[in-house]
Amino acid sequence: MAKRLLSVTSRCIALLRQRQRPFSDSRGQILDGKAIASSIRKNLKKEISDLKSKTDSKFGPCLAVIQVGHREDSNVYVRNKLKAAAEIGMETRSIKLPNAVGEAEVVDAIDELNRRNDVNGILLQLPLDVLQSVDTDYCINRIHPQKDVDGLTAVNSGRLARGEMGGTVIPCTPRGCLELIERTGTDIAGSNAVVIGRSKIVGSPMRDLLQNRNATVTVCHSKTKDMQDMVRRADIIVVAARQPQMVKGDWLKPGAIVIDCGINDIKDATKSKGYRLVGDVDYESCKPVASWITPVPKGVGPMTIAMLLQNTLECAKRQLAD
Ligand code: GUN
Repeated sequence: MAKRLLSVTSRCIALLRQRQRPFSDSRGQILDGKAIASSIRKNLKKEISDLKSKTDSKFGPCLAVIQVGHREDSNVYVRNKLKAAAEIGMETRSIKLPNAVGEAEVVDAIDELNRRNDVNGILLQLPLDVLQSVDTDYCINRIHPQKDVDGLTAVNSGRLARGEMGGTVIPCTPRGCLELIERTGTDIAGSNAVVIGRSKIVGSPMRDLLQNRNATVTVCHSKTKDMQDMVRRADIIVVAARQPQMVKGDWLKPGAIVIDCGINDIKDATKSKGYRLVGDVDYESCKPVASWITPVPKGVGPMTIAMLLQNTLECAKRQLAD
């Protein structure tokens, strides 16, 4: 009985110490994704230009983007990706398919790009805006893993989950989040990390990346009980919940690093458009408690595009070496 009491008491003291010890002494530092992404893009541009000169322009990485249908948000994302690629000296191809297409046409477009030696990266913009049912996973898995610049095929996501990193393409948003976390100088190994969201594109690969870096990772989702208790123990929190301003400042352990992957419109009568963009984190209440925090916009979003360009260049280099 006495032994048990001692063990419970020492566990309580350890927990209290853990909660009191801040992860970093400074508070409210902004992780400026826009500035970091811009410096990455500058370096990629130089690397492409150097490789072009060294190879007498035989090396010219090319990104192809397939968009099915005409969702307005996808139009904007695709335009931004193609523009960013062109700006750093990449070739681009834009394949637009009408929303009336079936699975066969989407697969044909992918197969054609798989065959072409002058295309190094293929991105199928999601969600597919289709009138008839099309199996998104089937289409994604049709992309050759070496050209899968989104890292979404079963081959790349399986390798990542198993920690087999050689030649594996990492999904762009989680890769960007990891880059931001690393730039804080924090030791990820041994930290407690919480990922909110378990999507194939953000939450699940983020879990794998942090786990591969020896963090202890907890994944929370819509059915998680006591989410606030999980978050309160986290040194690093990555939020991809699609819930505007869900994570509040009083959920956080002081000094936590907060990475916000959300992008949501909320009504705001003071804005000319009648709305404003917010993340999944309540920035105003979280900023004074966090050591580092990403803003929305200009946080994770620009990093996603920079990582897409980096993935495309890496795929092109591997294909050149093969
Ligand atoms: N739709 C929104 N974000 C993404 C992304 O990163 N990749 C793809 N393929 N589709 C998206």
